[in-house]
Amino acid sequence: MKKRQHQALQIALDGPAGAGKSTVAKIVANRLQLFYVDTGAMYRAIAYKALKKGASMDDEATVSQIAKRTEVVLDHSEARRIWCDGEDVTQEIRCPEVSRAVPVVAAYPKIRERLVELQRMEAKRGGVVMDGRDIGTHVLPEADLKIFLTATPEERAKRRWIELKKAGKDISFQEVAQDMIQRDRVDTEREVSPLKPAKDAIILDTTGLSVEELVAKILVLAEEVIKDDTI
Ligand code: DC
Repeated sequence: MKKRQHQALQIALDGPAGAGKSTVAKIVANRLQLFYVDTGAMYRAIAYKALKKGASMDDEATVSQIAKRTEVVLDHSEARRIWCDGEDVTQEIRCPEVSRAVPVVAAYPKIRERLVELQRMEAKRGGVVMDGRDIGTHVLPEADLKIFLTATPEERAKRRWIELKKAGKDISFQEVAQDMIQRDRVDTEREVSPLKPAKDAIILDTTGLSVEELVAKILVLAEEVIKDDTI
C-alpha cells in the first residue's frame, strides 16, 4: 500500500465505552501510517481541568468558560500524550472521578463546538483514524470509512475493569459496570450529537473477537476503500 494513496484517508470509529475503539484505532493508525485522534481524551481533559478548578459539573456556564480558556494539545509521537494547559494529563484523565464527570461536560454544546473545531483541525494534518461518539455523524461526515463498534455491556465493562486494574486502580467490577451504564445512557440521550451510528456506518460487534481479529477486519475494509482509488 503506497503512503501517497491514503494521505487523506479518514476513518471514523465510533461506539460506546469499552467497545475496543482506542485499542484498535491506535493499531490501525500505526499500520496505515495515519494520525490517531482520541476525541474522548479531549473531553476528559476538559472534565479534569474543571474538577481541578473545583467547578461544579452542573454549572454549565462556568465549565464552558473553563473549557474556552483551556488549551488541549495532542502529542502525535509514539508516546501519544495529552496536554492540558502545559500539564501532561495522560494518566490523570483515566481516573474514575473524571470518568464520572466527563459525560456531563460532553453534553454541553459550547464545549462540543470548541472541541469539534479542534478535532477537524487535527484531521486537516493528513490521513486520520479518529475515535469517539459523533465522528461519523458530525465531526467527519465525509469520512471514507465509518465504523461503529459494539459489544455486550458485560464484555465492555470487563474490558474496562481489566484495563483499570492493570493501571493499578483499586475499583470493583460492579462500580465500573455501573459507571459505564450511566455514561452510555447520558451519551445516548443527550440532545447534541448523541452516541449513534451514522447511516452509512458499518456496525461491527466485537464481542468475543480478539484485538488482532478486529484490526484485520478493519484493515480489509480500509484496503477496499483505498483500492477504490477515490482518495
Ligand atoms: O471514549 P471515552 O470513554 O474516553 O469518552 C469520554 C466521554 O466523552 C464519554 O462520556 C463520551 C464523551 N465523548 C463524546 O461525547 N464525544 C466524543 N467524540 C468522544 C467522547
